[in-house]
Parts: sequence; structure tokens; C-alpha cells
Amino acid sequence: MTTIAFFDTKSYDREHFEPAAAPAGLSYQFHEFRLSVQTAALARGATAVCVFVNDRLDRPCLAALAEVGVRHVALRCAGFNNVDLAAARELGLAVTRVPAYSPHAVAEHTVGLLLTLNRRIHRAYNRVREHNFSLGGLVGFDLCGRTVGIVGTGKIGRIVAQIFRGFEAQVVAHDPYPNTAWAQAHGVEYLALDALLARSDIVSLHLPLTPETHHLLNARSLALLKPGAHVVNTSRGKLIDTAALIAALKTGRLGGVALDVYEEEEGVFFEDLSGEVLQDDELSRLLTFPNVLVTAHQAFLTHDALAEIARVTTENIARCARTEAPLAGTAL
Ligand code: NAI
Repeated sequence: MTTIAFFDTKSYDREHFEPAAAPAGLSYQFHEFRLSVQTAALARGATAVCVFVNDRLDRPCLAALAEVGVRHVALRCAGFNNVDLAAARELGLAVTRVPAYSPHAVAEHTVGLLLTLNRRIHRAYNRVREHNFSLGGLVGFDLCGRTVGIVGTGKIGRIVAQIFRGFEAQVVAHDPYPNTAWAQAHGVEYLALDALLARSDIVSLHLPLTPETHHLLNARSLALLKPGAHVVNTSRGKLIDTAALIAALKTGRLGGVALDVYEEEEGVFFEDLSGEVLQDDELSRLLTFPNVLVTAHQAFLTHDALAEIARVTTENIARCARTEAPLAGTAL
């Protein structure tokens, strides 16, 4: 039976992947720790590794995997910024991912974060549980008539834009590859990035992390935002320069910030550190602002998305194990 070594797994991964293994003729070995050069040797005997967003597949790690006989890296996520693709190619390792498991899951969480932050639902929930029914400090704003700037109008960004159009908000967008037919159909106006930042009440990031988009929001671009603007990031942490974001928050110019991703997630997000001292000073500082809301990379986390991730990843693994081409559009 073909063995696959899974890294950085949680109960919900096992729950959705386990039923798919036997029918596909695969044996799944689940590890809770992350994959890195230090743990790669534990994949010995496996033909593929299945990894997630915070496993670090740099050149040394990929070389160690090739050394123990692994032939395929199956990402169970869409983003692939954590894999050195050039090194994988040189080492003859196939790399596949799940390009679109549920763009709706991510889009809906994005809007949920903005609504929670704006209407202070998280704070109201805690107050009411303590029988504090006062409303001071809970004032939000209507989305209707506000301008939402969507950076990246791919699968997720387009759904977010359409949901905000449902709130009767104005939507502006920026993308180096504009989808003009879609924009026309949904009343969305494309702008240059700086113009979008200067015009939006809410800026939501839906673009991949690449060397070009690293720190897209930095001291310069954050200074272009309107006073009171809200920023939402459910894409990748490194799209925002955290030090610059903290500096902007300290001036009081920003209305609010909602993050599902963070620059230094590794070793923090997906873990229960409630009994420990948080060592990351920037994350600790972010969590002190009353107008910052952080979730730990959970935008994808719906049963629908997990089931689709398990289905596509298992099919990719099974096809590569039979030395067939992976599913169309999933190979990198
Ligand atoms: P997609 O590939 O469908 O769309 C990305 C869009 O960004 C494309 O239209 C592309 O042209 C555009 N883009 C590229 N460079 C840009 C730039 N410099 N400025 C503006 N736009 C630019 O990707 P999809 O599925 O919409 O996902 C977006 C991001 O969401 C992913 O890259 C991933 O990092 C993140 N994501 C986060 C999840 C979470 O759980 N928080 C789950 C899934 C994805």
C-alpha cells in the first residue's frame, strides 16, 4: 500500500482525510508536528508528503525528502509561497495543491470579520455574558454607501466584492489582470492601487504573496489610507508590514484592522498557547488594540472546504502514485 506522511495535522484534518484513504488504496500516516529539514527524515517510506501553509519546504527540506525517497509534495491548501518550486523541480519532486476548495468559505469569513469588527459584536458578546447591557463604545457604521477596495479580484476577491455589493456598498478594485466583464456586470470600478487606497473606507486583500506583493501595505501605502479606514487581510500575513501597521494604529488614524493571517504565524497559529507566555512582541502588541481583531488562519475552515480539500488532495496523491498526471490545474 502506498504510504503518505501528513504533517501539521489537527483532528479536523484526520476526520476529513481518513475516510478517503482506503478506497484510494492509500495509507495515511498523520504527524502533528510541522515539516521542516529537521523532521523530513520521518517521511522515510512514504511516496508523498501532505503539507499545509506553515510547513517549511525550503531547498534543504526538499533535498532531505528526496533523499528518503519522497516523490510528491501534496499541498492541502491553495497558497504555495512556503515551497521552493525551483528546488522541487531540480530534485524531481512533483508539487500539487488545491487551487480552489471553497472561495466562498474565505470570502464569507472576510465579511464576517469586517462585520464583527465594525459592529463590535465580539465585545458585545462578552459584555452581555456578564450582564452588562450598556452600548457605550459599540458604535459602528453602515456599509451601505461606503467604498470597499478589493485588492486582487481572483476567485475569493470577486465573491467578497459581490457580497459587499449586496450591502449596497460601492466597490472599487485593483488587479494587474482586471476582469472587465465581471466588473461591468457587478458595478465594480478598477483603479490603480494608490487611488484605491486613497478612496476606500475598507480595504480587503485577496492577492497571493509573491516577492512583488511582499509588504504591499507598508508605511508609504498605509499613509495613503483615509483617516478611519478599515483594513482586512485574509490572504497572507507578509502582504502587510506589521511594524508599519502597528505604527499606523498607534497614531489612531486607522479605524480598524481585521486579520486572519499574520507575518510570523509559524509555531503560533493553529496551536493552543493559552498557558504560555507569548514570545512574539508584534503579535502581542497587535492584540492590545481595541480596534484590532485577529483570527488564527481559519477563513478556510468549513466542512465544505475541508471535504473538498480532502477529495482533491487524495485524488492528486492517488494519480501521482499511479504515475499519472495530477488533476488538471493542481500541479505547480
Ligand atoms: P486567485 O489566484 O484566484 O486570485 C488572486 C488574484 O490576485 C488574481 O486575480 C491576480 O491577478 C491578483 N493579483 C496578483 N498580483 C496582484 C497585485 N500585485 N495586486 C492586485 N492583485 C494581484 O486566488 P484566490 O483563490 O482568490 O486566493 C487569494 C489568496 O487568498 C491566496 O493567494 C491565498 O494566499 C489566500 N487564501 C487564504 C485562505 C485562508 O484561510 N485565510 C484560504 C485560501 C486562500
